[in-house]
Amino acid sequence: MTYRVAVAASGRGSNLAALLRTLGPSGPARVVLVLSNSPDAGALALAREQGVATAVLGDPADALAWRAALTAHQVDLLVLAGYLKLVPPEIVRGWAGRIINVHPALLPRHGGPGMYGGRVHRAVLEAGDLESGATVHLVDEEYDRGAVLAQARVPVLPGDSPETLAARVLAVEHRLLPAAVLRAAAAGHPVAFTPDPELEQSWREHAEGVDFRQ
Ligand code: GRF
Repeated sequence: MTYRVAVAASGRGSNLAALLRTLGPSGPARVVLVLSNSPDAGALALAREQGVATAVLGDPADALAWRAALTAHQVDLLVLAGYLKLVPPEIVRGWAGRIINVHPALLPRHGGPGMYGGRVHRAVLEAGDLESGATVHLVDEEYDRGAVLAQARVPVLPGDSPETLAARVLAVEHRLLPAAVLRAAAAGHPVAFTPDPELEQSWREHAEGVDFRQ
């Protein structure tokens, strides 16, 4: 039976692209719905191009609209991939243990309200951290606070800017998030796991032409 995945995204959707590419149309897990609070999100355009159903959340705090979309598409797992709003508490409670988020740092470092995009990478550089990475975690009612499921590390290199660090982290996000979804599909629910060490090296070969200024 296919594990049905919804992805919520506010921006360009490169993690959505990685999920669509890795999961494909007929694997054990499939993206069946893309939700966004922003009608202009690149993620929505990508979903439409690929024939995936979309939902624009006029009011992202409207739990009824969330529930209607998730139940209409019989969603097993909700993935937040660059989704910048809080998921309504009713939905977090109703879907407890079935919502995951990807964050571009090694939580619990550099997470919480307002920590997204370039701000995260700037904070890592300002703190003088020697490494950063990506975290996939369960979502609870606070930003970036739920149980960590998996992390992949990358080095911070001399001369890094927020943009170069973001690119290195994004390369591992694109591997870690699909791996987390496939593990969840196999187990029937999100699970903690240790990523393949090769995944942490995937930033070395990253050349997907993502525009990191978005
Ligand atoms: C990613 O860095 C993700 O970790 C963060 O927001 C960014 C979204 O990028 N939560 P994209 O829209 O998937 O390209």
